[in-house]
Amino acid sequence: MKSRILKFLQDADDILSGEQMSELLGVSRVSVWKHIRSLQAAGYAIEATPKGYRLTDLPDLLQPWGFPGRENRIHCHATVDSTMALARQLAREGCPEFTVVTADRQTGGRGRLGRVWHSSHGGLYFTIVLRPALPAPLSSLTTFAAGLTWACLLQEDYGIDVGLKWPNDLLVRERKLSGMLSEMEALGELVTFVNIGIGLNVNNDPTVEEPNAVSLVQITGKKIPRRDLLAGFLDRFERRMADPHGLDTIIAEWKPFAATLNRPVKIVTIRESIEGVARDVDDSGALLLELTDGSIQRIIHGDCFHQAEAV
Ligand code: BTN
Repeated sequence: MKSRILKFLQDADDILSGEQMSELLGVSRVSVWKHIRSLQAAGYAIEATPKGYRLTDLPDLLQPWGFPGRENRIHCHATVDSTMALARQLAREGCPEFTVVTADRQTGGRGRLGRVWHSSHGGLYFTIVLRPALPAPLSSLTTFAAGLTWACLLQEDYGIDVGLKWPNDLLVRERKLSGMLSEMEALGELVTFVNIGIGLNVNNDPTVEEPNAVSLVQITGKKIPRRDLLAGFLDRFERRMADPHGLDTIIAEWKPFAATLNRPVKIVTIRESIEGVARDVDDSGALLLELTDGSIQRIIHGDCFHQAEAV
């Protein structure tokens, strides 16, 4: 009901009377008024005039009712330690696929290789629970699908050209817009869940902690509602993941966006650091690194640092 009220108010050119709203929604005027009161309490700027209601400002809020059809699968929090921890608990308790945990802030945001993910106000931080019918060694294909989904969405809906750094950072002009972290549990060979945690710099300034990062507001000069971004991502991503063949061509589709191929890179893993030229990504998502002696090393996990221009 709340999402429908917001949609009517957003689409209205003028004030909407209580009577119009109750007809549109098929509920009493008192019920409309109660929902308006709770939207106001949640932070939506709805002016109540003698003639009716008007939305004066749409705050950048994430609330379950902002995601019609997904209300029962999306858990929106103001502050958490890390959305990864909450999502892991939900996944172990058997939550449905595509359950999402969001947070406006994280006090213990986690990055790859044990790093901290600074989660300042205005960024989009969430974890999505997947239950793909995949053998464990192919579970990382899901993060390639997530990166590709963002690249397509940002290009199509906002005209932003994104480069994908192996395995799954989003770069804009070599600056980091987003990072992803995945956690997987399997029973024997088969995956029981893969949780993908995504941090996207939206209306925040990430450069305070990460000088080489960038946010969408810094790129476009305009604030973008995080709800619109997340809803657009979930629509596209769920469609792909629900398709039994959605991952068949994922690496081939990912490569045109790749910012890592044919350039010198340093790969850092928990154990070692290796330098070479990133030559290709195989069908399982592993990076094929050409070493100085011309041999090819297959890298399954690691963080990648771009060294210089393409070779
Ligand atoms: C990286 O680039 O190092 C990965 C960053 C992943 C950050 C996201 S924010 C939402 C989710 N919760 C976390 O604690 N981390 C991921």
